[in-house]
Amino acid sequence: MPSSSMKLFAALLVACLAQTSMAAIVVCKMDAQDGDTLTAACSVGVSGQPISLVGPGSGQQQLTGSQVSYTLDVNARSTLFECASEDDLLIIDSSQYSSQTLNNCEPPLLELRGCSNAILSNNTFISITRSTAQPGCTISKYGPCVAVVGAASQETDWSFSSLANTFTSTICSSISATSGRLGGAFAFEHNDSPGAMSAVVKGSTFTSTACDFGGAIHSANASLTLTDSTFTGTLAVDGGAVQFVGTNATVAPIQKLQVKSSTFTSNTAVTTGGIIQVTGGAVSIDGSTFTNGEAQIGQCVWLDKCESYTENQITGNTWTGCAKPESPPISWCKAHDGNNWTTCGMEGPRECY
Ligand SMILES: *[C@@H]1O[C@H](CO)[C@@H](O)[C@H](O)[C@H]1NC(C)=O
Ligand SMILES: *[C@@H]1O[C@H](CO)[C@@H](O)[C@H](O)[C@H]1NC(C)=O
Ligand SMILES: *[C@@H]1O[C@H](CO)[C@@H](O)[C@H](O)[C@H]1NC(C)=O
Ligand SMILES: *[C@@H]1O[C@H](CO)[C@@H](O)[C@H](O)[C@H]1NC(C)=O
Repeated sequence: MPSSSMKLFAALLVACLAQTSMAAIVVCKMDAQDGDTLTAACSVGVSGQPISLVGPGSGQQQLTGSQVSYTLDVNARSTLFECASEDDLLIIDSSQYSSQTLNNCEPPLLELRGCSNAILSNNTFISITRSTAQPGCTISKYGPCVAVVGAASQETDWSFSSLANTFTSTICSSISATSGRLGGAFAFEHNDSPGAMSAVVKGSTFTSTACDFGGAIHSANASLTLTDSTFTGTLAVDGGAVQFVGTNATVAPIQKLQVKSSTFTSNTAVTTGGIIQVTGGAVSIDGSTFTNGEAQIGQCVWLDKCESYTENQITGNTWTGCAKPESPPISWCKAHDGNNWTTCGMEGPRECY
């Protein structure tokens, strides 16, 4: 072989080897409107042709050119994406789901497992219900829409982003603590991934969402940032809009709940945390508006551990229709850092004050 050909061959071989280990971008568009079953397609790589998803009930399928596989459930609506590599990037964009009812055992419409840095953007979910029907089966632990769950393959720290998504009337019907379903829109679970998980919810809108724990969002052992998002008329047993479960202050890494430039209106918990319930972790809230929270314990934001609260992390917020300022003796709601406390919005156990 002449040396120029040798060089070309070597270059092709290198390119080929690089290709197999190269990160793929997988973009999927899902569509299940007005009770119809799912039609969906994913493309792999920047100029990839759309690959229609095969199903329902035909088992796990690999998206060629990536380490991403999917399973379309026998209900023909719910899709489980599993990512075997931390390098592939799954994007679910411009999807539309409407008027779908799942029984209490079916998986959520979308479940992402082991998918590092996945993005859900520009999607709408309207009138999605998880009913209480239980045809002799194990109850799903998630709400009706989206679960993002960590896996053992995720060794480096990873994130999930919700950008410009809209959830309207997405509910678990007949909410109760014993059902224990998580998140009317999102359930975030770090699960058994060795890397730390963080979730970002930006420019997203949650209206009339409901589930047992976390009317819109449930987050467990992950950091959560809410930015430019709106939560209206949400309902849960605990965490009317958001239930945030972090590790406590003695355990590293500490998960942080950060709320920025967001608006919460008319959110209700049957028991604890009318708007946000925080268990462990650390909290910062900036430039946000909280109006009319309802709960037995902690009408607007409830923190169960004193260490989660740092005064200078609560800045420039407006609080109206939360706890009466005089009961309990709430020093957390004294004037500081541009907060307008028409009522007391941050509450915790009495020993914190
Ligand atoms: C969402 O939609 C907007 C406008 O259609 C588009 O510019 C943007 O790229 C989309 N976001 C993503 C992450 O694809
Ligand atoms: C929480 O996540 C960390 C990694 O960020 C992990 O080390 C720890 O085991 C997790 N804790 C629980 C209770 O899952
Ligand atoms: C914090 O977590 C540690 C380890 O899980 C546990 O032993 C301890 O009781 C927890 N502390 C509180 C205040 O919950
Ligand atoms: C605080 O908020 C209330 C209700 O929105 C408003 O009427 C009042 O003017 C605000 N006070 C200040 C000092 O901004």
